[in-house]
Amino acid sequence: MGRKSNKAKEKKQRRLEERAAMDAVCAKVESANKLEDPLAAFPVFKKYDRNGLNLAIECQRVAALSPDTLEWAYDLTRNNMQALYEQSEWGWKEREKREELRDERAWYLLARDGGGGASGGSATPIAFSHFRFDVECGEEVLYCYEVQLESRVRRKGLGKFLIQILQLIANSTQMKKVMLTVFKHNHGAYQFFRESLQFEIDESSPSVSGCCSDDCSYEILSRRTKFGEGGPHAHGGGHCGGCCH
Ligand SMILES: CC(C)(COP(=O)(O)OP(=O)(O)OC[C@H]1O[C@@H](n2cnc3c(N)ncnc32)[C@H](O)[C@@H]1OP(=O)(O)O)[C@@H](O)C(=O)NCCC(=O)NCCS
Repeated sequence: MGRKSNKAKEKKQRRLEERAAMDAVCAKVESANKLEDPLAAFPVFKKYDRNGLNLAIECQRVAALSPDTLEWAYDLTRNNMQALYEQSEWGWKEREKREELRDERAWYLLARDGGGGASGGSATPIAFSHFRFDVECGEEVLYCYEVQLESRVRRKGLGKFLIQILQLIANSTQMKKVMLTVFKHNHGAYQFFRESLQFEIDESSPSVSGCCSDDCSYEILSRRTKFGEGGPHAHGGGHCGGCCH
């Protein structure tokens, strides 16, 4: 009897600790989502003036984007990605992609042409990253949903710069890692992330977790921040899909 109730107490204690840990994870995500401008503390990252480009960089919630900018983001994503989606088990689904891009949790890093001046808001967008602060497998993460550049500005270091900004934002909001999904057959992007940016194959990726067949056409990649060094905590390790909403 005594042993049993001790066991029950321990179980309850463990549950309370797990709950408190998950509350702390969700609190980090919520406070990141309350920021006005995650780039405010890093003005040097608000312009990109290299390799013949002179761009203004801004970071905004989706609600602050104009309908024209959102339409441009969809068109660019479709131009860059439709054929790659069609070669995968996912196919290209216009309605889903449009909804994903305008989901209220979406944040945008935008690079605009036309100089780093104060009037950047009206200049032409030429590259973006859609990202979110979220919980994956019990950990607070910055998930990069898209990084898309117009073809004329590729191979000038801009993609690398945008991902470095995401890493900076992830560190400054105490996220544990930056994550993303990449098609294996998107060879250029795969090389960009794995070799140039040294992303690793995440433990939740199908090829590691074994949760789907070997011929899965994508990998989940990640890079830990200083807050995520040492890997997942015991409470978060085995259970994926935790969510604060
Ligand atoms: C993938 C993408 C974001 C890379 O951005 P980028 O600005 O062109 O890349 P960078 O100039 O920063 O490249 C940095 C390094 O990554 C590697 N790299 C980038 N693109 C590459 C490619 N197509 N093939 C091989 N290596 C590549 C190179 O080592 C490069 O350094 P180098 O130019 O000195 O050789 C961009 O090409 C793009 O928008 N592609 C279309 C959309 C897409 O596939 N997005 C990714 C979805 S997961």
